[in-house]
Amino acid sequence: MFTYFTDRDGKFQLTMLSYSGFAPLAQSMNPMLKEESFHLGTGHDGLKRIVRAGVVPLNIVQKYINKWIPVSLDLFGVDHSSSAHWFYVWGLKGRYDEAQTQQGADLGHMNEHSRGLFYLECKKLIDQINKYVPADQPKLYVPDERFNRHIGEFADEPYSASGDLLPAAKYEEYMRGAVPQEEDLDLILQIQQNEPKWVASKGAMEA
Ligand SMILES: [Fe+2]
Repeated sequence: MFTYFTDRDGKFQLTMLSYSGFAPLAQSMNPMLKEESFHLGTGHDGLKRIVRAGVVPLNIVQKYINKWIPVSLDLFGVDHSSSAHWFYVWGLKGRYDEAQTQQGADLGHMNEHSRGLFYLECKKLIDQINKYVPADQPKLYVPDERFNRHIGEFADEPYSASGDLLPAAKYEEYMRGAVPQEEDLDLILQIQQNEPKWVASKGAMEA
């Protein structure tokens, strides 16, 4: 999950710096992006192989998604960021989609813009993983953008993964069912020790 989602924030930040007006910085991004792509591939193929093997319970997989996507959304920084505004104006950073977009930058929402593109990318990737989820099981999903956030407009608000605002008194109990607990980790470690086929082999992937 870390290499899948959190390194993906790295890909976004490096891409934004690849448009920097400071050429030595911009030019050092391509080799770093290449390196990052190996990490992202490990995350994507790894999760695909785990889901395909069908041994790790999908509700635990979902809990780890619920942990790591919000952490990664937080990494894009605060909403209405004035530093993101000035980094753009001073030419230190571009937008993630700088090369593709014809639109002017929305300077008051620079972090929100890249965070939104990241969120869409996560959704597309989880859709791909869902092809390996058996028909009789619930599909994996990307939690609501407001869920489990610690930075930005929705920081520490009791939103559920489906985007409902919960009563504060019920939130703690809800979260125990929504993000990994010690017993989930114990179960995963047991599975890894006792079930050699917890992850599908590489060669079996597209069979
Ligand atoms: Fe990385």
